[in-house]
Amino acid sequence: MTATAQADPTGRRTDAVGRGLTMPDSIPSRTVDQSFRPHAADYAAWRADKLRELEPTGGVPTIPLENPLQLKPEERHALLAEIAKRNFAFYEISGARDRDTPLDGSVLEAMCRQFGLAAPVNNPAADGFGLSRIEYVDGREGGTGPGNRARYIPYTNRRLNWHTDGYYNDELRKVRSFVLHCVQDAEHGGENVLMDPEILYILLRDEHPHLLQALCQEDAFSIPADRGDNGSGRMAFTGPVFSVDAETGALYTRFTQRRHHIHWLDDPDVAEAVKAVDRILQGPHPALVRRTLRPGQGVLCNNVLHCRSAFEDRQGGDHGRLLFRLRFNQRIGHAPEKSPGII
Ligand SMILES: [Fe+2]
Repeated sequence: MTATAQADPTGRRTDAVGRGLTMPDSIPSRTVDQSFRPHAADYAAWRADKLRELEPTGGVPTIPLENPLQLKPEERHALLAEIAKRNFAFYEISGARDRDTPLDGSVLEAMCRQFGLAAPVNNPAADGFGLSRIEYVDGREGGTGPGNRARYIPYTNRRLNWHTDGYYNDELRKVRSFVLHCVQDAEHGGENVLMDPEILYILLRDEHPHLLQALCQEDAFSIPADRGDNGSGRMAFTGPVFSVDAETGALYTRFTQRRHHIHWLDDPDVAEAVKAVDRILQGPHPALVRRTLRPGQGVLCNNVLHCRSAFEDRQGGDHGRLLFRLRFNQRIGHAPEKSPGII
């Protein structure tokens, strides 16, 4: 389908499909090769490129990494090439397989710096450097404030529904990328499913353009404030599901399947659109990539859609499922050609 760009009186460009998407006048040259331009004549070529990468022979590869502190150029390029295709890439670090000798959070941070990721987005459940330990806390933490991880589904062993990270974060704390690194897997379950949100956008635009329009509205959903018991939580947030990120020119997706503490815009098209997204995420579709991360493995991504199945930990001791997570304000793909290594 071809979209025709127009300029409205506010300077925003709109068309029959992308109502409400704000387009920057010019996209910085450093991002041109991966920019998302829903109104441009070359949208069809961008769409064709994306769909061509859907089903790689042999599945989505896992890139082996020898030393995360100093990636080899070919390792780094392989990860960037995978991320350019589907906005996420799997890796495996040799020698990081045992919970007793885990990869340190600072090593993970150093690895991410080699992709230009240097501004971790913190949250109340993370340490002071933005590192979150995703594990089943099993009532070990108390209080009703945002710092008590037990309040949040990621820190249980229950199924975690589809979402993008930080869907309620404002522009300054926008999560454009994250890394999820497995230190210890569960005995059973804990499978992640990932989907490139650019494919979700294409599917909606192909099949239900009016529903896509509904999700591009700037007040498509609202999340109430999370004040907790000490007032240190986050503010309420209202925003679109799909928008163009003004800083990078990329598609930005905010989504959650949460059923409580969310208000979808009172619009029949929004309600229908949410159901259409649920149907797509239910599958089957080749863009839905299933992976149970094993110790030493991880996923580096531009904040793609993801969910997690319920899991059961091994009995006894300190051997529960443990993933490290770092979220960043930057998008992957802008890093300098030469790896800076560790400083
Ligand atoms: Fe997440």
